[in-house]
Amino acid sequence: MSVPVITVDGPGGAGKGTLSYSLASELGWHMLDSGALYRVTAFAALAKDVPLTDEQALADLARHLALEFVAAAEGLTQVMLSGEDISLAIRSESCSAAASKVAAMGAVRAALLDRQRQMAIAPGLVADGRDMGTVVFPEAPLKIFLTASAEARAERRYRQLLAKGESVTLARLLETIEERDARDSNRAESPLVPATDALVIDSTGISASSVLDTVLREARLRRLLS
Ligand code: DC
Repeated sequence: MSVPVITVDGPGGAGKGTLSYSLASELGWHMLDSGALYRVTAFAALAKDVPLTDEQALADLARHLALEFVAAAEGLTQVMLSGEDISLAIRSESCSAAASKVAAMGAVRAALLDRQRQMAIAPGLVADGRDMGTVVFPEAPLKIFLTASAEARAERRYRQLLAKGESVTLARLLETIEERDARDSNRAESPLVPATDALVIDSTGISASSVLDTVLREARLRRLLS
């Protein structure tokens, strides 16, 4: 029998990471943070001065990343590239912007496809991203599309960055989020759209625990819980 997968897609800042981590913990399943793969590719490109316009060079880089995800403290995963912990570096605003450009390239997406599919290991996988339900795991028995207003997502991100000591303004963040949404949704390769059979959840003004309850109820209805 194939390994069950729950896909969690949606725009940045909608709460996908929190939901995916809680779901994976609750079910005892593995978790794939596919955005980290694009972020690491962008990080490696910036570090090696690979132009963000050179699609083939970026795809080669993506295919050969010496990447490891290591479970750390509660809710955290260390991202190691060639033995170096780059977990914080890949979350910077410059790396986010570069990741969005790299992720728009078909050859890069193709280079990362197998690596993502190989993460579907028993007893199950929660896959967090933009195209988990539409492209990477189209047969997944439960697909979630988690969204929230751009304002709510900007505020969430603003609080996260302030806590990390990065200086940003809310207005600038909102602008960046809207630009990135437009790029992710309008690109030709794997645009950010809900799968036709996805359950769409708008998390604006809804607590993370109530979103989790909704998804667990669905998982139970689909007999994904043992
Ligand atoms: O989820 P995130 O912010 O870490 O994702 C980083 C970038 O990668 C973002 O621009 C969206 C893109 N991405 C993608 O195109 N497909 C995925 N499956 C995951 C992320």
